[in-house]
Amino acid sequence: MSTIILGIESSCDDTSAAIIKDGIILSNNIANQDVHKSYGGVVPELASRSHQQNIVPVVELAIKNAGITKNQISAVAFTEGPGLLGSLLVGSSFAKGFSLSLNIPLIGVNHLQAHILAHFIKENENDDHLPEFPFLCLLVSGGHTQIVQINDYLSMEVLGSTIDDAAGEAFDKCGKIMGFEYPAGPIIDEISKKANENKFVFTKPKVAGYNYSFSGLKTAFLYFIRDQLKINNEFINENKADLSASIQKTIVEILMQKLVEASKNTGISEVAVAGGVAANSRLSRALLEESENRNWKIHIPKKKFTTDNAAMIAITGYYKYLEKLFSSQNITPKAKLLF
Ligand code: KG4
Ligand code: ZN
Repeated sequence: MSTIILGIESSCDDTSAAIIKDGIILSNNIANQDVHKSYGGVVPELASRSHQQNIVPVVELAIKNAGITKNQISAVAFTEGPGLLGSLLVGSSFAKGFSLSLNIPLIGVNHLQAHILAHFIKENENDDHLPEFPFLCLLVSGGHTQIVQINDYLSMEVLGSTIDDAAGEAFDKCGKIMGFEYPAGPIIDEISKKANENKFVFTKPKVAGYNYSFSGLKTAFLYFIRDQLKINNEFINENKADLSASIQKTIVEILMQKLVEASKNTGISEVAVAGGVAANSRLSRALLEESENRNWKIHIPKKKFTTDNAAMIAITGYYKYLEKLFSSQNITPKAKLLF
């Protein structure tokens, strides 16, 4: 008999629902919240209100697009954390009600683990792009930056983490300084394409082990721009593209340096990237270069699976279902949740 999982993701500002059947994606619907754009970041109160409005139609659409009925669903998986508590509560309450009403298992999923397991979403029977264990994954999102060693679907070890800001946050905050809307990462990526990435040089942090730090870089960027604006108040407008390309290059170099070290020291040459920043084209280029220099087998997920989506929650739910790792109705969402 087939295993059909409904996945629900509501950790931040996207409401998403997806259906996965025996590891193969049937649907993945996302309602984005444009309401945060002009605020320079996600406004938690507005996010949870939008989730409440979106959750029922998004789940209905995912079930309809999958061509199934809700009675065929084997289990419902939802994001347990980490994320914004008010947002997580909407998804978890819905999932609990759904599991109770259909009398099917409820499965709480770690959002970070799900970003990594997005690599195992199959788009059809013959999809064979999947990573082999053990592999390293650079998990780079708006809230997290980590190097993780994955030994099996549900066995992961964090080798290093950011000690302050995440890589996505560095993109977003530097973008905000230049006057870009939130999220600035994709804007910086686009505007950098025809710019000179060597025009401005920013000092890279020195952090122990495989850990990262981005807050010093953001401050250095802020002070540099503040000083330049005193000399020329058109400095940002005249240099937007080169500033973007230079800060992007620095962030990517910081990310890659630790990843290369981790690969050398663990002897693992199967390397993946996950999370929203994995969509960055400069990071993909750096990974491709390293794959040639160091014989890495690299895995870069499709853009639709890098940013927050429910298919990654459903695939994680699928592997937990196979192990009968079910949650009770007493489960509560958690703003902070480690692996
Ligand atoms: O994984 P995600 O969708 O949400 C979190 O769980 O945080 O990641 C969102 C982050 C944002 O910081 C956004 O600016 C960044 O991913 N991002 C990018 C790109 N696309 C999204 N950063 C750099 N280049 C991109 N192309
Ligand atoms: Zn995420």
